[in-house]
Amino acid sequence: MIQKAFIFLAIGLLGFTTITRSQNLVNGKKIYETRCLVCHQADGGGVPNMNAPLDGSSNVIGNDIARLVKIIKKGYNERVALDGAYYSNAMTPNPDLTDAAIADVLSYIRNSWSNKASLVTIAQVKKTVVKK
Ligand code: HEC
Repeated sequence: MIQKAFIFLAIGLLGFTTITRSQNLVNGKKIYETRCLVCHQADGGGVPNMNAPLDGSSNVIGNDIARLVKIIKKGYNERVALDGAYYSNAMTPNPDLTDAAIADVLSYIRNSWSNKASLVTIAQVKKTVVKK
């Protein structure tokens, strides 16, 4: 009896995790399409010399989540080499995105096209301190 209950609980948790995971990515895709696609393109390939690609970017799939959170919140116009190339456009900031929305859009870009990396949690976004 207890074993049965445990199995149901385990299956339920697994199902729940799968649903919330795909829900994050669905939300992330919506945010991407309304805010990011215009520059980074539907295929995540960016525009050569102008808008950095997100597909295949070592930073996007890397472990520095705090850097990614800052870029989304504050925008980005550093003109440093990204995987050896430079981009002339300035990325606009997104000060109105909630922590959950930032977690979703980062999870989406880390798991789209050829990218495969861990999902970003709301806790990871919250603990990133971004100066006003
Ligand atoms: C106005 C065009 C524009 C929009 C809109 C935009 N970006 Fe960007 N993004 C850029 C440019 C240009 C760079 C590189 C800037 C530089 O090199 O200084 C960049 C850089 C980045 C980087 C760093 C890439 C790396 O390899 O380090 C990430 C991550 C990123 N953008 C994600 C996003 C996400 C997610 C959105 C939507 C919420 C978004 N961007 C919206 C133009 C844009």
